[in-house]
Amino acid sequence: ALRKAVIAGNWKMNKTRPEAKALIEELKPLVADAGCDVVICVPYTNLETALELTKGTNIGVGAENCHWAKSGAFTGEISADMLAEMGVQYVVIGHSERRQYFGETDVTVNKRVRAALDAGLTVILCVGELLEQREQGVTEEIVGMQTKIALQGVSEKELKKIIIAYEPVWAIGTGKTATADQADEVNGCIRGVIAKLYGKAAADAVTVQYGGSMNAGNAEELLNKEHVDGGLIGGASLKAPDFAAIVKAAS
Ligand code: G3H
Repeated sequence: ALRKAVIAGNWKMNKTRPEAKALIEELKPLVADAGCDVVICVPYTNLETALELTKGTNIGVGAENCHWAKSGAFTGEISADMLAEMGVQYVVIGHSERRQYFGETDVTVNKRVRAALDAGLTVILCVGELLEQREQGVTEEIVGMQTKIALQGVSEKELKKIIIAYEPVWAIGTGKTATADQADEVNGCIRGVIAKLYGKAAADAVTVQYGGSMNAGNAEELLNKEHVDGGLIGGASLKAPDFAAIVKAAS
């Protein structure tokens, strides 16, 4: 990649507080000299633990979602302001699991992106096609549309607080990674969409990660590609040595 990489872990619905503490303590020394940005996105219940344990380190902390309203009658939801007040810096928005299992749409993704930016958070915006869509030859269109709708009303200045994560749904948690060329191709298309919307300089600067069964073994090849500026790591972020190896490959 031509840009400084961002390696972000997405713990999903894993780790109790004691387990989170142990993982972070193990991770800290392993990534202390990272040459890339390091982020861990953790369940809400682990945010305070993560913020405390990473104070003064090079590890950023993120949440895995946030609601679009500032407050109100939305049982079970968490607002972007609540996260920002805690000191959380990042939030994952539009993960395919949210889209698949919790009815998230491009429109609600856009509303959440807006709310996160208004709260001053950095957004990790997830896009990606289903296997069926790849087979139908519409990957570029689907990913382009997801990106475009998610960024409605986002200014060029605000784009600096957006990281895009390309995650082909068929590669998530399946052990089936996209090839480095496939990842590079779609990441390049996403950059093209950004260029059309915001111009070449913005497109050259935007961070576009790859996610989907990225691990210590395949990270280097993926990260060596021009358009792959880091990774959003699920399973391999749950073990400190595995995550640290990916950080090393990106440094
Ligand atoms: O957000 C992370 C992705 O969904 C990738 O998950 O690395 O377990 O395939 P995975």
